[in-house]
Amino acid sequence: MKKVIHIVGARPNFMKVAPIHRAIAARNQLQQVLVHTGQHYDVKMSDVFFSDLGLPAPEVHLGIGSGSHAQQTAKTMVELERVFLEHKPDLVSVVGDVNSTVAAALVSSKLGIALAHVEAGLRSYSRHQPEEINRVVTDRLSDLLLTPSRDADANLLKEGADPERIHFVGNVMIDSLLASKERADQLPVLKTLGVEPRGYAVCTLHRPSNVDDPKLLGGLLSAISHVASRVPVIFPVHPRTRKMISEQGLGSWFERSPNLRPVDPMGYLEFLALTSQAKLILTDSGGLQEETTALGVPCLTLRENTERPITVEQGTNEVVGTDPDRIRESADRVLDGQGKKGRIPEYWDGRSGERIADLFARFLGVSEDARRAASA
Ligand code: UD1
Repeated sequence: MKKVIHIVGARPNFMKVAPIHRAIAARNQLQQVLVHTGQHYDVKMSDVFFSDLGLPAPEVHLGIGSGSHAQQTAKTMVELERVFLEHKPDLVSVVGDVNSTVAAALVSSKLGIALAHVEAGLRSYSRHQPEEINRVVTDRLSDLLLTPSRDADANLLKEGADPERIHFVGNVMIDSLLASKERADQLPVLKTLGVEPRGYAVCTLHRPSNVDDPKLLGGLLSAISHVASRVPVIFPVHPRTRKMISEQGLGSWFERSPNLRPVDPMGYLEFLALTSQAKLILTDSGGLQEETTALGVPCLTLRENTERPITVEQGTNEVVGTDPDRIRESADRVLDGQGKKGRIPEYWDGRSGERIADLFARFLGVSEDARRAASA
């Protein structure tokens, strides 16, 4: 049986791989091996997502951990080369734009192994963002470019990608959201936190460009504490952000604003329960811009650009930058009931994992007959 290796490493990867893994398992046409690089290693940044998403434990765990970009990427490459030589996959599948993604792309293409990139073609056009470099390199090396939206197809064509490699499959992360919503809705998260449906905001921050500069982070926290003067703000704090807040003495923002409530990073289902009932989300995350569009919850993106423009053109997202005054004004508008109303983009329908599984089978020349023979 032909073999696919999936690479996951960091939190936003898990919800993208789960639906693909599930769809391939259901077809029983391909063998699959799940490799976790260990870029994220805290239980709350990693393990909980496997149980929440029904992902099997990875067959291979590399335990790479943290480090500079070069260290993390290089260590991952050395380990993956060993794994690919041992397992001899016919296809390596990578998702998203984290360091584990680009490391796997470089290793598989140098070994002559076919490469598929899920979430291809997204561009912020800012090389200051490490993820943008990872996206450009990974796309350049990929044999299958699986895109979440039509704008991504256009970006790839503009860069000269072979149109035959580009496949619009829709947003696979939304597959996970739709498959999990009912279970999430049953969790008593709001009750535990003591907040009412549509009576609170949620905030997440972790981009180095936002949290590594104490002046900028202080400005963001001042704007967010304004929001907290109107509604409770639940703030699951990423490890990087927690470290910066404590090192830079910014904890006073939380002492002054009792309604600004830091909590530990949350599991997938808990966080979905929280975001789906929020009145407003403030974030610098890429995935959350998409999830809020799928949920119809107003989102303010605290960045100067987005690689996911469809969430602005069709969804509930507004890119408001990092100026505290602008954030305060935009948040007031949403809290006064003037948040954006959006619609669901094309192919954000919960079936992207199935489309990807079909494409992989076709790409690897696995026919219906082979499937039947394999399962006989
Ligand atoms: C990575 C991704 C980013 C993604 C984010 C989601 C890259 C370049 N960036 O950023 O695109 O949006 O994951 O979270 O790949 N740490 C822990 N425990 C962990 C993981 C990290 O304490 O489980 C701390 C460490 O101090 C580490 C820092 O967080 O140095 C940053 O982690 P890293 O993996 O380098 O990048 P993220 O900022 O998480």
